[in-house]
Order: sequence, then C-alpha cells, then structure tokens
Amino acid sequence: MALSSNIVCSDPALEAALAYALANPGKQLRSRLCRETATMVSGEAMQSATRVGEAIECLHTYSLIHDDLPSMDNDDLRRGKPTVHRAFDEATAILVGDGLQAFAFEWVSETDGLSDTQKIKLVKLLSKSVGFDGMVGGQAMDIAAEGKSLDVSALKEVHLRKTGALIEASVLAGAICGEANAGQIEALGRFSRNIGLAFQVMDDVLDVTASSETLGKTAGKDIAADKSTYVACMGVDAASAYANDLLNEALALLSPFGQAADALSALSKLLVHRKN
Ligand code: IPE
Ligand code: IPE
Ligand code: MG
Ligand code: MG
Ligand code: MG
Repeated sequence: MALSSNIVCSDPALEAALAYALANPGKQLRSRLCRETATMVSGEAMQSATRVGEAIECLHTYSLIHDDLPSMDNDDLRRGKPTVHRAFDEATAILVGDGLQAFAFEWVSETDGLSDTQKIKLVKLLSKSVGFDGMVGGQAMDIAAEGKSLDVSALKEVHLRKTGALIEASVLAGAICGEANAGQIEALGRFSRNIGLAFQVMDDVLDVTASSETLGKTAGKDIAADKSTYVACMGVDAASAYANDLLNEALALLSPFGQAADALSALSKLLVHRKN
C-alpha cells in the first residue's frame, strides 16, 4: 500500500512502525471485494472504491496488529515477519493500530467522487462493522471462548462478528460506491455474510493444514491456545465442506448480476480455496 506516504505521523518511532506494518499489505482481499463489487454494480472501475478499499485495509491491518498482541493471541509472526509488537514494542503496536483505525475514516471522508450522503453511509457501515457488535465484539467473544467448547451456532456468532462483519462491509461499501439499489444491497448482504463466514471457517482449517511458512503466521496456534474453531467443533473435512457449501450459496446469490459478477465470483472462490 502506498498509503504510508499519505499519513502524517508526528512521531518518528511510530512512523517507522507504521511503515513496517504497511510494507507487506497481505492478500488485500477486502479491498478487492470492495472494488469488484463497485465495478459489478456500476459497470465501470471506480476510483472511489479503490480508495475506500484502502481504508478498509487500514481497518483490517489494525485488527491484525491488535489480534497479535500478547493480551490477545500472543503471536510472533504476521505476514511472514515478526509482529509489530515484537519488532517494536507493545505500546507502539497499540498506537499504530489506533492510528490506522482513525486514519481509515479520514481517508473515506476525503474521497473524491462520493456524495456526502455516500460518505456518511460508508462511515456508518465501516464503524459498525469494526465496533462492539462487529469485529471488536467478536474478538471479545473469541477470547472468552478460549478453553471452552462452543457449539456450532455459538461459534457462528463469533465468526460472523470477528471476521465476517468487515468482509460483509467490504462488499457493501463497494455497493454504496456503485450506488446499488435496495434489492441488490439485500442480495449482496446475504452473499457477503456467507463468504465472510466461509473465510473464517477456512482460516480455522488452514491453521491446522498449512505450514507457518505458507501462512506467514504461526500454524497450529488455535489448538495451542485452546480456541473455539470450526475444526475443533466438526473436524477438518466437515469444516472444509461447510465452507464450500457457504461458497456455493453465495455464488447462487450473484446469479441476478449475470456475467457482470464473473470477477466477484472468481474472487469469492479464491477467498475460500486459498492456500494462505
Ligand atoms: C487474516 O486475514 C485474519 C483473519 C480475519 C482470519 P487475511 O488472511 O485476509 O490476512 P492478510 O491480510 O492476507 O494478511
Ligand atoms: C482474527 O482471527 C480475526 C481478526 C479480527 C483479526 P484469528 O485470530 O483466527 O486470525 P489469525 O489466524 O491470527 O490471522
Ligand atoms: Mg484471534
Ligand atoms: Mg490470531
Ligand atoms: Mg486464525
């Protein structure tokens, strides 16, 4: 992300940690979801959706930096490098996350090509998705569930919030940029909840089936931390099959968009059938 050159940071140590965090941007699936949805709905590539996608990646990167903290998942490796709190220190990692979260909203508010109404809708959508009933709430539920065995319906509520909410918001943000109608927004909401859940189910699967080298993060962490996961609940094969069912339901919801949905369909398949 070339974003770090746009972020004014008054503290040199914080600026270095921010550059470190943004140097490897990861798979950038959420910004791609935003862009592809906007293109599908509007019929053209939209610069505004690119920019909103960048803001979403800031929110996501913040969530990862905090997720890795010693008081959360206590991870040493992220995107193939030491986590921000290991490379710098804990206070710096907390502040880089906080700053990225705030910057995301600054970036949306300064996006050209969107009306004020669209910007307010985006701020509301994105802030709710990472808030108490979204990512943050889900993260609290995830930590509270350590050492317990949640049933599948309780686990679904955790996953829909901690990961699904921002993926859903990524798709719906693209829909707002592309000025989707109410029917399209309804279908895209259901589509994105399915792929958001499928994404985290596959994250649980990859934690046990892939290597740390492939993942760029420590494999096997969920069992070590006694996390409630779909693998713990139903095993690798049933969890993978469930993710595939969710994907197929999601793809069916795109059928009214016809061929315009090809790129978003392909991206959804990649999200579920990814290697890392
Ligand atoms: C990892 O997300 C965290 C989860 C929500 C499971 P990604 O797998 O999209 O991570 P990056 O952005 O590619 O590193
Ligand atoms: C993280 O879920 C969800 C976030 C809100 C970041 P995980 O804790 O399973 O993500 P990884 O496996 O560390 O990337
Ligand atoms: Mg976690
Ligand atoms: Mg984690
Ligand atoms: Mg995980």
